[in-house]
Amino acid sequence: MTAPSTPQAPARAPADLMRAAVMRAVGEPDVLVVEQMPLPVPEDGQSLVDVSFAGINFDDLERRGGDTPAPDLPAVLGVDVVGRRRRDGQRVVVLMRHGGGYAQVVAATDAYSIDVPEDITDEQALGIFEQGATAYGALALAGRIRTGESVAISAAAGGVGHLAVQLAVALGARQVIGIASTAAKRALVTELGAHHALVPDDLDEGLREVTGGRGVDLVVDATGGDQTRALLRGLAPFGRLVSYGWRAPGPGRGTVSVSTEELTDRSIGCAGFWMRHVVDDRPRLSAIAQELFRLAGQGRLRAHIDRVVALGGVGAAHAAIAARATSGKVLIDVNRER
Ligand SMILES: NC(=O)c1ccc[n+]([C@@H]2O[C@H](COP(=O)([O-])OP(=O)(O)OC[C@H]3O[C@@H](n4cnc5c(N)ncnc54)[C@H](OP(=O)(O)O)[C@@H]3O)[C@@H](O)[C@H]2O)c1
Repeated sequence: MTAPSTPQAPARAPADLMRAAVMRAVGEPDVLVVEQMPLPVPEDGQSLVDVSFAGINFDDLERRGGDTPAPDLPAVLGVDVVGRRRRDGQRVVVLMRHGGGYAQVVAATDAYSIDVPEDITDEQALGIFEQGATAYGALALAGRIRTGESVAISAAAGGVGHLAVQLAVALGARQVIGIASTAAKRALVTELGAHHALVPDDLDEGLREVTGGRGVDLVVDATGGDQTRALLRGLAPFGRLVSYGWRAPGPGRGTVSVSTEELTDRSIGCAGFWMRHVVDDRPRLSAIAQELFRLAGQGRLRAHIDRVVALGGVGAAHAAIAARATSGKVLIDVNRER
């Protein structure tokens, strides 16, 4: 017997209502259901933004599934949107620190809103903003990348990774090595500028081969577990590994031990990067966004948009991301009916 389908709200909402993908329970992707709800009420320092596209990020999947503290329910997930600010018509990308992005209208915090230049489309602006800032922070702020270095990037076809590949090239890397699990993902990684694309399974041999036994100067890593251990082994003297996520499955995925003796013996370093420290620093957030938009305007940074779904398709998109079936950015067209 098939379960009765959940009634979905009509695509067009009355003026004082909006449509949103609402989560009323922690669980599988089907807990995300389109509903009509009242418009958000902006607080001091916030403005209403009519959203055109919202982004889906891996963190949303973890919050939906209860892997990280679940939000107060009912909740609207979504941490990045693009749209037009109602009070002045300005096109902005917005970081939604407390979620709320999977909706037609958001109360955007002005300090987390950045004007979008006219020459960049909504889709591209959103595709490069949050994940691009993460890639930039990991490479430049935490990793302190220098011209002429070799850089290895794990999960290189992902939302952050595919931008990290392009940014590493733009920031002067001599050799960019992307790591991705399928041939199609590796083809994307090389198309975006990586000099080598490696499979995750035999990184010791792969890194040795492409660096002529020297090792890499900088690793930007979102995997954790065994892959991170292999990447640490692949560092050259004075090499640094920057961790910004841990996608590898299983317990202890966020814990990789390295002894101070090993750090010293090989003159290597480890660092972490969290966007929170950019989000809370408005001048820095703004400067990074300007740099991302500048590179996009020059054609040196491009978001690969894997798919655009309607609000009713958000659950299926969560399932696709969890199954590692997407590359680059997944967007929600919040005004599309299906
Ligand atoms: N520190 C921060 O401020 C910050 C900001 C944004 C995101 N993040 C984190 O960064 C990570 C990547 O985010 P994203 O937006 O790029 O995600 P994404 O678009 O879903 O891509 C992540 C990549 O991770 C790999 N992956 C997926 N499942 C995996 C698994 N079970 N084991 C190993 N690898 C797996 C996949 O590549 P392959 O199939 O090629 O392995 C996938 O392409 C997430 O953990 C996210 O939470 C951190």
